[in-house]
Amino acid sequence: NTYVAIMAGGIGSRFWPVSRVNHPKQFLDILGAGKTLIQQTYERFVHLVPAENIFVVTANEYLGITKEQLPQLPEENIIGEPFRKNTAPCIAYISFKLRKMNPEASLIVAPADHLILQEDKFLEVCNDALKFVNHFNALVTIGIKPTYPNTGYGYIQHEDAPATPGVHKVKTFTEKPNLELAKTFIASGDFLWNSGIFIWKIKNGIDAFHKHMPEMYELFLSEEEKLNTSDEKEIIEEIYPQCSNISVDFGVMEKANNVYVIPASFGWSDLGTWNSAWDNMEKDYLENAVAGDRVIVFDTSKCVVHVPDDKLVVLQGLENFIVADTKDVLLICHKDKEQEIKEYVAEVKRNT
Ligand code: GDD
Ligand code: MG
Repeated sequence: NTYVAIMAGGIGSRFWPVSRVNHPKQFLDILGAGKTLIQQTYERFVHLVPAENIFVVTANEYLGITKEQLPQLPEENIIGEPFRKNTAPCIAYISFKLRKMNPEASLIVAPADHLILQEDKFLEVCNDALKFVNHFNALVTIGIKPTYPNTGYGYIQHEDAPATPGVHKVKTFTEKPNLELAKTFIASGDFLWNSGIFIWKIKNGIDAFHKHMPEMYELFLSEEEKLNTSDEKEIIEEIYPQCSNISVDFGVMEKANNVYVIPASFGWSDLGTWNSAWDNMEKDYLENAVAGDRVIVFDTSKCVVHVPDDKLVVLQGLENFIVADTKDVLLICHKDKEQEIKEYVAEVKRNT
């Protein structure tokens, strides 16, 4: 009675040049773990629900690579989108599809590109959330204790007293605040990061779209009978250009008044940048994190190295650097400047 929808349509631009538009981060083994992030995400959820209840929603151009990386997943569970419209249309689409299949079911929506170290703990939290949404009309998110004022996250403030043990009603949800506000949130000690993992009954999720994004709701509702039929692809190509480009966080979570949070810790990382990859990778005694079979280092420390397994790479005298090599692009960048990688990519595009 539970479905999982893995969202896998993003482009992960801060991991350039290893993450590219035609091969983004969720399809990469960023940590050198032997499995890509989407494979790890899938394997986590297959311990919670059967494979036929797991769906991946991704851009049409990634359908092929998704099939390749998740051969265990029934092909009809890999859903393509004709345009990148952020997460609200993605969630509306899969919700209407699944409601038709099972109107009473629950849904877990999860990003494809996160790291979760303590899987058992994570699955326990999912089960707690599922129990909660079975009893209450609630949109549940999982909250993570924040460590610094990251402006790329959602911030959640909740009521002190739990509604049921471990589950708190959310007072405010602020998506991607500016730095000043993020600093205030962190200083107050009163906020959690939104993990971007949501749990609700499908019909209640759709109700929230009805209330807070009525145009998008109407678009899918008016063509509902064509979903899960041979007309679906055609109708989705008509609906998507009309959908606004907006995330579920801005579109629904900031506005809804039935949001609940489960504060949790299970070794979560959004793996947003090379530094967060470095944080989560195994390191040698000089704190170098290396993905690549043939890397030799001399007088080198605190570096993150991601190079092809068949390339012999020799490093000397580097401290705190990112070394990321691919077939056609090599990046050597100070770790302190990783936020600027996006700008370098833009510059590269202007010049090539
Ligand atoms: N199918 C599909 N279509 N997936 C998408 C699309 C799309 O158009 N856009 C993004 N995704 C996928 C990404 O691949 C990722 O797995 C997930 O949806 C979340 O999108 P991000 O673009 O990574 O969102 P974010 O990191 O800026 O913010 C979200 O996650 C944070 C935690 O990592 C928000 O939920 C924040 O509130 C949250 O703190
Ligand atoms: Mg993200």
